[in-house]
Amino acid sequence: MIQLPTPLSLTTPHNLVKTSYLVGELADSIHRGRSTDWLRAASIDFDGFAAERAGVREHWGVPSQVFWYTSGEYYIGSLVLRHRLTEDEGGGHIGYHVVYPWQRNGHATRMLRLALNACADLGIPRALLTVSPDNPASVTVVERNGGIPDGLNHEGEIRFWIDTTKH
Ligand SMILES: CC(C)(COP(=O)(O)OP(=O)(O)OC[C@H]1O[C@@H](n2cnc3c(N)ncnc32)[C@H](O)[C@@H]1OP(=O)(O)O)[C@@H](O)C(=O)NCCC(=O)NCCS
Repeated sequence: MIQLPTPLSLTTPHNLVKTSYLVGELADSIHRGRSTDWLRAASIDFDGFAAERAGVREHWGVPSQVFWYTSGEYYIGSLVLRHRLTEDEGGGHIGYHVVYPWQRNGHATRMLRLALNACADLGIPRALLTVSPDNPASVTVVERNGGIPDGLNHEGEIRFWIDTTKH
């Protein structure tokens, strides 16, 4: 496995990870059988692509923030942190993915832990995560971070609450 230069952290989208981001997301899209068309614009103007995602932005009617999980020039995955729940609680407080080449190395578990610390700093004492029952990897990630199941949402996803003050 690749030796990362520094401990991984949640960073504001930035252009230092351009190549790693594009190649990682390309591999991930191919693995999931999804279109890779969206990468074209990103590859032409990566600075603009990263800038569009930086900072707190209103999305789905609530303030939300995108983080990239990075070490030096290496990009591992993305995470979105909603500062408030949407009206129908869609997507919960936190959503994430780790690109395929870096999966199954504990990255999502650690990335979520860092996001829970960020939630606590933002004054969110309990974070809601919603996970499809057909996604055992994500269910494991949430359970390893102390997720307590609380029924299903309108899309049939498991609702998990995590006490962010314990992280
Ligand atoms: C879910 C996801 C984020 C997990 O990322 P990851 O970095 O591989 O997660 P971790 O390495 O922390 O894995 C957690 C556990 O789930 C297990 N796991 C990982 N992929 C798995 C799979 N496809 N099937 C079953 N278990 C899996 C891991 O093996 C690990 O357990 P282990 O340590 O005992 O091996 C990643 O698969 C992904 O990005 N999927 C697509 C997007 C997505 O589903 N996002 C979450 C939406 S709620």
